[in-house]
Amino acid sequence: MRIYDIISKKRDGFELTDEEISFFIKNYVNGEIADYQAAALLMAIYLKGMSDKETVTLTLEMAKSGDMLDLSGIDGVKVDKHSTGGVGDKTTLIVAPVVAAIGCKVAKMSGRGLGHTGGTVDKLEAIKGFNTALSPENFIDTVNRTGICVVGQTGNLAPADKKLYALRDATATVGSIPLIASSIMSKKLAAGSDCIVLDVKYGSGAFMKTPEDALLLAEKMVTIGKGAGKRVRAVITDMDTPLGKNIGNTLEVIEAAEILRSGTDSDLTQVCIALATNITVLAFGIDYIEAESRVRAALTNGEAYKKFLEMVKAQGGDASLIENTDNFAKAKHRKEVLSPADGYIAATDAEKIGSASVVLGAGRVTKDDGIDYTAGIILHKKTGDIVKKGDVIAELFTNDEAKLASAEEMFISGFVFSEKETERKPLIYRVVE
Ligand code: URA
Repeated sequence: MRIYDIISKKRDGFELTDEEISFFIKNYVNGEIADYQAAALLMAIYLKGMSDKETVTLTLEMAKSGDMLDLSGIDGVKVDKHSTGGVGDKTTLIVAPVVAAIGCKVAKMSGRGLGHTGGTVDKLEAIKGFNTALSPENFIDTVNRTGICVVGQTGNLAPADKKLYALRDATATVGSIPLIASSIMSKKLAAGSDCIVLDVKYGSGAFMKTPEDALLLAEKMVTIGKGAGKRVRAVITDMDTPLGKNIGNTLEVIEAAEILRSGTDSDLTQVCIALATNITVLAFGIDYIEAESRVRAALTNGEAYKKFLEMVKAQGGDASLIENTDNFAKAKHRKEVLSPADGYIAATDAEKIGSASVVLGAGRVTKDDGIDYTAGIILHKKTGDIVKKGDVIAELFTNDEAKLASAEEMFISGFVFSEKETERKPLIYRVVE
């Protein structure tokens, strides 16, 4: 078999066999296939697409290219969730303890933030002492003891994806649905859970800008998951505007703790309930109404909050910070952002607001940058709200005063004001089963 023939076959629009896809992944990972040949094949896939059969095979080969986590040492149904990335997206901090309180086993690997989007591992590390780098034995033991453990991704999970993603980034081939779907699902399959719920975001702050594209991606990922024998669903949710009111690591932990403690209703609560309910349906095979009532009960009867405290303690974190969030370290500088106009807020661009939060120090520009855990934004107004000139629409926080002016400029460029009332897009567009 020659890579040259595989490239020309895909270039001419033909379906690749399982053997050809396996040959490509194995030989690319071991260095036998050069980057320029892999790049040519990626571009051919980008232009000609892939059938569902090809995409499932590609994903399984990528998943098998490194460690496949063995979760068989954990009793019960193992569940996982994945978000395609967003701003203010602290859903894992809420959904994981909720479903663990209901009896699911959450053995979850999460990522760090990059670009304008945040990552769960950074948020958890904002809690003093919280350890996201447990050994595999400790990870499994913690899930068996408490029902929940969230750690960072191990170095050798789906190495084919690591190599291919870097190449796609440099060759304008990121935005291909089979390539995005196989990239995400290869890591989910390698992480070993029985049930997976995907939160596929659409809007200005998301990979997929329209709900229609998000739906295509969601359908592809659900097909792959089912093809690999998993129970899987996707929930398509709005990321035109940030989720919830707080953006930035400590601020997001505080907002999640408030919701777990009080069950307060908000856009964030609604997305969390939808994700947790879909996980519960998959895990226990019960109907949606029964699952939703279990989820709402766990949120309001204190069980999910208790589970969150248990998780923080089990992973070495200082749970007194969660019990009294005023004790979290605070940023040295705070600035109020005032509305420059009267009217309705027609849009709050999630990408610009996420980028403003990165400027304040809450995120990284390159993957080796440090993070200011206290930095971020509290939104006081969101899309659809009415404001008067001079009203406080947000507060910015940072330890570096010099960053405030440029962050404010970036932040305000994300706000669109209108004389007419505007409605938010649907928070939950569709569930793909
Ligand atoms: N996230 C991933 O892990 N891979 C992609 O291709 C896009 C988003």
